[in-house]
Amino acid sequence: MNKAVDTFYVTTPIYYVNDIPHIGHAYTTVSADCLARYKRLKGYRVLFLTGTDEHGQKVEKAATAAGLTPKELADRVVVRFKDLWKVLDISNDDFIRTTEERHRRAATRIWQEVARRGDIYLGEYEDWYCTPCENFLTSNQLADGRCPDCGRPVDRLKEKSYFFRLSRYGERILKYIEENPGFIGPPERRNEMVSFIKEGLRDLSVSRTTFSWGIPVPGDPSHVMYVWFDALTNYLTATGYPDERYREFWPADVHIIGKDILRFHTVYWPAFLMSAGIAPPKKVFAHGWWTVDGRKMSKSLGNVVDPFAVAGDYGTDQFRYFLLREVPFGLDGDFSTATLKGRINGELANDLGNLLSRTVSMIARYLNGEVPARVASRDRAELEGRLQSMFRELLDRVDSSMEELAFHHALEAIWSVIREMNGYVERAAPWQVAKAGDREGLSNVLFTLWEGLRILSVYLFPFMPGSAQRIWDQLGVDERIGDRSIDDLARWGSEVPALRVEKGPPLFPRVEEA
Ligand code: MSP
Repeated sequence: MNKAVDTFYVTTPIYYVNDIPHIGHAYTTVSADCLARYKRLKGYRVLFLTGTDEHGQKVEKAATAAGLTPKELADRVVVRFKDLWKVLDISNDDFIRTTEERHRRAATRIWQEVARRGDIYLGEYEDWYCTPCENFLTSNQLADGRCPDCGRPVDRLKEKSYFFRLSRYGERILKYIEENPGFIGPPERRNEMVSFIKEGLRDLSVSRTTFSWGIPVPGDPSHVMYVWFDALTNYLTATGYPDERYREFWPADVHIIGKDILRFHTVYWPAFLMSAGIAPPKKVFAHGWWTVDGRKMSKSLGNVVDPFAVAGDYGTDQFRYFLLREVPFGLDGDFSTATLKGRINGELANDLGNLLSRTVSMIARYLNGEVPARVASRDRAELEGRLQSMFRELLDRVDSSMEELAFHHALEAIWSVIREMNGYVERAAPWQVAKAGDREGLSNVLFTLWEGLRILSVYLFPFMPGSAQRIWDQLGVDERIGDRSIDDLARWGSEVPALRVEKGPPLFPRVEEA
């Protein structure tokens, strides 16, 4: 059985439960949600997975500090993540916790497969270790004697450990990267990984004896699996591995991650999989890092952005829009309430919100609220033609942007049409058409606006699902977006059940700017 062509499997990293969710977690999950929703609209059977990474020394230490068992800590923090995903309208199909039985089973099995192929051996380990990053480091990887990633002090570790023969896989991974140019995204990140591999891969320590909070090594329970071996396997667990049905969704279409964990996903993970005789994921895409008002986000600076608060103060879709629009996906970005407010008042309230409220008001006033019939008009043939051809091009523009995970480009394309629509209102001037008593003309102009907004909502749905549906509700469309495919719904004049428009509260209320 091979992976079916019409399935799409997208994942987020699983989040450590030693910390509560912040904007970085929200970012990865919102972007994966946007992609999952888009693929569903395209007609794919989607598996969208997120979850929590609950084992390892970091979680054990945090639990001890809080006077809890690691499982108690996990049980508390997991609720925060699940609540956040509800607040942010995340449509994940599954939520995995690495403490679940299904996961222990999958991780145990993949370990056994790797061992069966002779890629695991017992050795002794001595090196530097950064506990916060759960990462081993050689002396030349250290930066001034500290962890090069987080800057914190490292510990010297010496212990018996099982090793994975990573050194065997360098060539094969390089070949995989070469043969699959889309494997690592954005493309700029590819070279980074290629040079890392070319420096030479050392065997990787994949077990620990100094603590016990983890999945026992099969056949030697005095060791627990290295947390990354355990964690990466989550992507397989959720497909049903080791049961044969895992092939329905495996290999994953894309793992969306932050750039800090690229090496784990594009070197270690494919190596584990190749060893076990399982295909590597098709794509790993690393997004950038958020700073806050130009500074690194950290607890000690007290500037950690709480996604519950942002969504509560400004709205879920406003926050989602900002995250996906503000920064080209793959680059670093900066969060500030000033830019967030600017985008809400400009693009959301002025460009989109006003277009909707004007359209609905005019239909209410001039057509007694009845959804206009589609009427052609010679007077505005050129205006209409231009608008409709923009709509026709939009499907390809959005599609190719989404294929590249260029969410910001997709939104730019959508907004270029929204702006064209606003220009159309001014040029077609329905209030003058009404004054002239031209019923046909009114129907023509107002249908154009109504239809344009109907289609735009379909495109907006993956980004702002609640608001997109509320636009349909105000337009009087009696259907749920997502019940039909985008190729069908985005056609000019495609049939939808609709009777009367219904004016609602402003979609995106203006916010006070400093
Ligand atoms: N548990 C591991 C992932 C295992 S996946 C098999 C982990 N967890 S994490 O909770 O620390 O981080 C999860 C994600 O949040 C990472 O992709 C990371 O890039 C992202 N972010 C954490 N801080 C961030 C910012 N300041 N900005 C953007 N994303 C950041 O790593």
